[in-house]
Amino acid sequence: MAAIKTLLLIFSFSSLLILSSVCEAQTAPPLVKGLNYTFYKTTCPNLESIITKQLKSAFSKNPGLAAGLLRLHFHDCFVQGCDGSVLLDGSTSKPSEKAALPNLTLRPAAFAMINTLRDLIEKACGRVVSCADITTLAARDAVALSGGPNYSVPLGRRDSATFATNATAIRFLPRPQSDVTTLLSALKLNNLDVNDLVALSGGHTIGIGHCAAFSNRLFPSRDHTMDPTFFKNLRLTCPTNTTDNTTNLDVRTPNTFDNKYYVDLVHRQGLFTSDQDMFSDSRTKPIVKRFKNNQSLFFEKFAFSMVKMGMLKVLTGTSGQIRANCSAKNPGTVGDAWSVVDLEVESGGAAAAY
Ligand code: HEM
Repeated sequence: MAAIKTLLLIFSFSSLLILSSVCEAQTAPPLVKGLNYTFYKTTCPNLESIITKQLKSAFSKNPGLAAGLLRLHFHDCFVQGCDGSVLLDGSTSKPSEKAALPNLTLRPAAFAMINTLRDLIEKACGRVVSCADITTLAARDAVALSGGPNYSVPLGRRDSATFATNATAIRFLPRPQSDVTTLLSALKLNNLDVNDLVALSGGHTIGIGHCAAFSNRLFPSRDHTMDPTFFKNLRLTCPTNTTDNTTNLDVRTPNTFDNKYYVDLVHRQGLFTSDQDMFSDSRTKPIVKRFKNNQSLFFEKFAFSMVKMGMLKVLTGTSGQIRANCSAKNPGTVGDAWSVVDLEVESGGAAAAY
């Protein structure tokens, strides 16, 4: 009898262990080799608090900076991986990723903040933290300090000494005029799926867009999937198809990170084709509805996909470098500014207009 009881106890204990590891697997994707959650624990113990303190004060003066930092991390990761390549300055003969059309609307204040943070961190810890990790942490804080989920991010990324060409940047960054089929193929290049697409697009719950990014829905006439009143208001902001004004991405709560972006989509008030088509396409519509009805679920899935996105093609260990200046590769680094992978894409890829 005692033996049976012991067996039962062992059985229920191991079931509990299995169950808890399944739950963990759902809240965070498997870690890429070289990244972990305690990477700077001894080398820069105050790293996260230095960043959070600085951003809290900066966002109180400029709430739009949060959106700028979130988008910066996305544009870094999608092109050549999360290696800080989007931060590098180019030259006239070798334009960097910054010069690619989708990156022209990245906020100068976001680039400047990454360098400010880097300098503060170097003062406290020496040159141990990569610009890619600073960008990842800044995006995480941008979400949390705007009202979104406060998730942990694995660290240990290193910075590239190269940046991508214009053709590569354009190939990997989806256009706002894309439909769901096009978006899914673009995300597949980075092994991201339909759940990642709907969750990550929820980043459009904060920030702004320029008329050029959605004028395809206003001219020559209203996109029939757009709410007529929403259309009328957008036409006031963008009276011609060459107006260079901006409007909020989330019409309900533009500076708060919440699930109202999905409420917008259900009311046909999404700004870009890439947003609104997710409520038309049968592969994405049920996920949009779920997030619209359940903010906690959206927060959980958003955090999951952000951690996944944050691990794309990272440089770790002894690869890459820790930059002294986030806008430039370290002096004396050998090699060309464009990566080898890029030149292959360049020779085959035609650049479409963003
Ligand atoms: C799925 C494909 C996506 C497309 C086509 C897209 C496209 C765009 C475009 C065109 C803008 C406006 C740029 C401007 O006119 O100033 C924008 C802004 C923004 N995007 Fe995306 N985006 C996508 C995914 C994402 C993801 C994955 C995130 C982050 C998780 C994100 C976060 C943002 C943020 C926060 C802004 C506002 C930036 C600011 O106010 O400075 N986007 N996006």
